[in-house]
Amino acid sequence: MKYAPNVRALRVMCSGRIEPTFVLKAFREGADAVLICGCHPGDCHYHEGNYKCLRRYHLLQKYVQQMGIEKDRLRLEWVSASEGKIFAELVDEMTETVSKLGPCQFRKVMETLT
Ligand code: FES
Repeated sequence: MKYAPNVRALRVMCSGRIEPTFVLKAFREGADAVLICGCHPGDCHYHEGNYKCLRRYHLLQKYVQQMGIEKDRLRLEWVSASEGKIFAELVDEMTETVSKLGPCQFRKVMETLT
């Protein structure tokens, strides 16, 4: 499957493994957006990892918005490993959304504070 080449995929065993600090670090290091993908509800190999991810995602959305990051720059979607086409479409869709938003200013803001 082909998708936008400006994407850097970080693989973890389960979406429940994604710590909020991973997302914040990505933004701090210059990511324009973060797309979190996990197995569909009820399909997590670790039973509740995706529910844990969903709870963290809602908290993270509030946090990143408080930090001045537009909410469209962080997204959570349920995509299983066998749904490559859907993943590719999601990546392209998110890339388009972020292109409209322009570069994320979070890194610059953080640099001025330190
Ligand atoms: S294995 Fe837990 S979300 Fe996929």
